[in-house]
Amino acid sequence: MSATTSTRPAPAGGAGRMAAVNEMTRLLRLLFEVEREFLRTVTTLVYRVGEPELKYLLCQHAWESAGHARFLRERGRELTTFGTNDNVHDSIRRVFVEAVGKAAADPFVLTAGFYEVLKPALLEAYRHYLKVTDPLADWPSKKLVEEFVADEERHAHEIAPYLAGIDAREWKLHLTQALDDLGGWLGQETRLPLSPTYVWQQEKTPYTHPPTCSRGKYPLCSGVFGFDPKEDPIVRPWLVDPKTDARVIRLMVYVWLMMEMDAIDYLATVFIETPHAPFDLHHDLARHLWDESRHSQFGFRQLPKLGVDLMTVEHSLDLYNILVQMPPHERYAMMTMEFEAGSFSTKATVMDRVRELNDFEADTLLAFDRNDEQNHVRYGHRWLPEMMALFGETRPVEDFVKATQEKFKVFAAIYGGKVPHSLPRDRRLTAEKILRLAGVT
Ligand SMILES: [Fe+2]
Ligand SMILES: [Fe+2]
Repeated sequence: MSATTSTRPAPAGGAGRMAAVNEMTRLLRLLFEVEREFLRTVTTLVYRVGEPELKYLLCQHAWESAGHARFLRERGRELTTFGTNDNVHDSIRRVFVEAVGKAAADPFVLTAGFYEVLKPALLEAYRHYLKVTDPLADWPSKKLVEEFVADEERHAHEIAPYLAGIDAREWKLHLTQALDDLGGWLGQETRLPLSPTYVWQQEKTPYTHPPTCSRGKYPLCSGVFGFDPKEDPIVRPWLVDPKTDARVIRLMVYVWLMMEMDAIDYLATVFIETPHAPFDLHHDLARHLWDESRHSQFGFRQLPKLGVDLMTVEHSLDLYNILVQMPPHERYAMMTMEFEAGSFSTKATVMDRVRELNDFEADTLLAFDRNDEQNHVRYGHRWLPEMMALFGETRPVEDFVKATQEKFKVFAAIYGGKVPHSLPRDRRLTAEKILRLAGVT
């Protein structure tokens, strides 16, 4: 009733005058925090689930969440009370960290926690936003949120096949209780306070990374690069030897690309360990992660078309196993300053050889890979110093990178080469078999 409204005492100053904007800004701020914290924690699933297609999907969703967070922040900053920092409320953070679970927990149950509790609550929060905001006055936010609702609905649809038949009732109830205590992500529901007997698992067993990553049903090995065509699929000198048939090089580079699954797995470990990173750092890392997941898919999708049975391609675990023993800024330094920066000249030779085949698809994939990799090295230059600062590393970047390269060699001797071949030579993909598949012998 308007009479009631008019007799309400007006709050003093601008706060009262801008109350409608401020309330919507508060909700946008919470949505931003939820999306950025989802990104920081859902990435811990990537190296724990084994199925490559699921890894790829998680990387894609993580990237889309980064996009949501970015646009929410951009819109939020048009409104006066959004704030200038990227911090997340402890109450929100605590629920996401709980969802990460233990290192060894069933990754499908954990995935169900994220996708059947936390994300549906986010979808509800977006729908609530649309309900309470003014569609004309707040049109810019409304357009964004409508898009995010569609994305969230698609994410639920895309993940569903992986969660069919997974019994995660107990874990979902555990997370639901934590979320109900907040009354939903926006506090829009009636709060159901936590029972005093509720035990936060993160307080009992803080999360640490598993010492190795999962590749599900696929055969494993320590590394795919080597020198013996009877042993390894990629014979390093053959990649740059003008006598190697271009069809052989194409198969080898697809194996190489598919094994960028290494990069997906170890890069995904960095988010959870950098809770105080600026959002822009996580945004670019999410892009990097998604790029690598597409590069890996290049190999994963093309190899079968060229006659390769993926169950004969062993997955290399060395890089994850070694790098997870090093802190995140050292992992990131090795990735961007050593592996990526060091790959351009060989890949250029490979690209020139593959072009002999007039395989437009292969040329396209390799060209986009190269373009992405150039961005990754740029990200490295931009973010490595910031990541070093987060870990109190004060040496000049160049000295730090050199020392890290040396440390990696030491750690490779300790933690590398420990994964035996799952398959005997005659069953696994080797360079010799690649010669046959390419029709060279
Ligand atoms: Fe890549
Ligand atoms: Fe890369």
